[in-house]
Amino acid sequence: CGIVGIVGDQPVSERLVDALKRLEYRGYDSAGVATINGGELHRRRAEGKLVNLETRLKEEPLAGTIGIAHTRWATHGAPTERNAHPHFTEGVAVVHNGIIENFAELKSELTAAGAEFQTETDTEVVAQLLASFRREGMGRREAMHAMLKRVSGAYALAVLFEDDPSTIMAARNGPPLAIGHGEGEMFLGSDAIALAPFTNEITYLIDGDWAVIGRTGVHIFDIDGSPVTRPRQVSMAAAYMIDKGNHRHFMEKEIYEQPEVISHALGHYVNFIDNRVLPVSEVIDFAEVPSLAISACGTAYLAGLVGKYWFERYARLPVEIDVASEFRYREIPLTPQSAALFISQSGETADTLASLRYCKEHGLKIGAVVNTRESTIARESDAVFPIFAGPEIGVASTKAFTCQLAVLAALAIAAGKARGTISDAEEQAMVRSLAEMPRLMGQVLNSIQPKIEFLSRELSKCRDVLYLGRGTSFPLAMEGALKLKEISYIHAEGYAAGELKHGPIALIDENMPVIVIAPHDRFFDKTVSNMQEVAARGGRIILITDEKGAAASTLDTMHTLVLPSVDEIVAPMIFSLPVQLLAYHTAVHMGTDVDQPRNLAKSVTVE
Ligand code: G6P
Repeated sequence: CGIVGIVGDQPVSERLVDALKRLEYRGYDSAGVATINGGELHRRRAEGKLVNLETRLKEEPLAGTIGIAHTRWATHGAPTERNAHPHFTEGVAVVHNGIIENFAELKSELTAAGAEFQTETDTEVVAQLLASFRREGMGRREAMHAMLKRVSGAYALAVLFEDDPSTIMAARNGPPLAIGHGEGEMFLGSDAIALAPFTNEITYLIDGDWAVIGRTGVHIFDIDGSPVTRPRQVSMAAAYMIDKGNHRHFMEKEIYEQPEVISHALGHYVNFIDNRVLPVSEVIDFAEVPSLAISACGTAYLAGLVGKYWFERYARLPVEIDVASEFRYREIPLTPQSAALFISQSGETADTLASLRYCKEHGLKIGAVVNTRESTIARESDAVFPIFAGPEIGVASTKAFTCQLAVLAALAIAAGKARGTISDAEEQAMVRSLAEMPRLMGQVLNSIQPKIEFLSRELSKCRDVLYLGRGTSFPLAMEGALKLKEISYIHAEGYAAGELKHGPIALIDENMPVIVIAPHDRFFDKTVSNMQEVAARGGRIILITDEKGAAASTLDTMHTLVLPSVDEIVAPMIFSLPVQLLAYHTAVHMGTDVDQPRNLAKSVTVE
């Protein structure tokens, strides 16, 4: 969910909705705005995307110079207008991002005391609690503090009290909240990008903080109610204001941006004059660490899985990897001398952040491969490895994935050098290949479009698709399946090619295309054998290979997509392009909402 608030002297509702647009990546199940006008709270809410709220506001404008607003990714309660934020209870308005974990207990307590709940959300307990404390005679701040002491779980909150038209109260425990300092106006937002048109002077709340925001400044308190000071910093977010350019969707634009952003990213990690990797970190000594733990979610996790292959192969560094939601609860025995790497585009994913804190508690050195350098994950890490992908708006990650891969490749080479497991010549050869990569990416993007269009039309008729790959192409197969299901809603699975015979082979028939990602690497012949098993059962194979692979393959495929032959270390980045474009064009054929697929959110700040 995304939160915004403005305390100003000009009407706020339009500006609130504008800011919400920049937060829509956090969810788009419903949206709402509340303001205080003429001493009364008013709100407009609408189910679905923000455009519905805008229509509502055109029909029934909302006056007022103070307001809070919200775009929702539903956790508790269906995404209806009734469950949309802001929630109102007796002169209190609340918007919330996160989950109030003890809401059931609080709800029954409040209901027993006579409270009447209007929604199924966990958030409403916050409004009801505040209202009940006010009824008991508490002041606004006192009620806020008392409420925070009762709720547990994750939250970013913004609260308006009807009897104070000049203050927004806010609290953070988990999901991020940034306070923006303006000229005679103050702002609140889930991130600095939401506030970028208003101000670049930002104060981030930290966990346990709550704040009282007036037109001319903010007072911040810790959970005990003691005043605290948090640094005011200049945000770079304003530089990131963006549009779709000539592309139909952000996703398409982001796919085509890859040669440029990856070249920019690599420039920070390698020296192309002498083809060497640059020193990476003074904090994490790859020469000394006995092992590396990697944790992430979604696409970032799959980038981490490719990273595991690289760190193990090139640096002989054992890697423990898991999705963050499992990692944090598995009670993994960790050695404090080890390092941990967290990969996250947003830098705010709740599970990834929790894994990070788990490793920190166990004394590991923490590295973060992030796109958003002002994010919580970046701020809590010992070493930050930015991926320089620029803002990624499409919910399905594309350029962040390949930039994560590029940075992980550079880190793995650096680790190999530090550990003496690769020679100078090997380092130089790999860096030279990385240097070539942006040009090759451009070439691939310019040449495969017609074939992809054709294949996508085929895929859009299917119910199920299987992706296979070996080595680093295995995580890529899973990424292909993830991309396809995320945006086209076609069921897809990504499997290790060798695992086909242990189960998925039962699914093979003429209706299920099998997309095989097979560059001509050490595993090519083995993967070809697996494809024979598919062909023998009447399966339809779409082979994505390179020139050498196409020449070597004797297989009867339905289609073969041929990419340039490249060094093994750059193959995952190059082969990502057809995988992304296939998902994109299939979704376009199917007419889905490519940039904002159903039920998903780009940044998930709940467990
Ligand atoms: C969500 C997004 C995915 C993303 C994952 C991790 O599920 O829809 O595209 O890969 O979160 O996000 P992060 O910001 O941590 O990379």
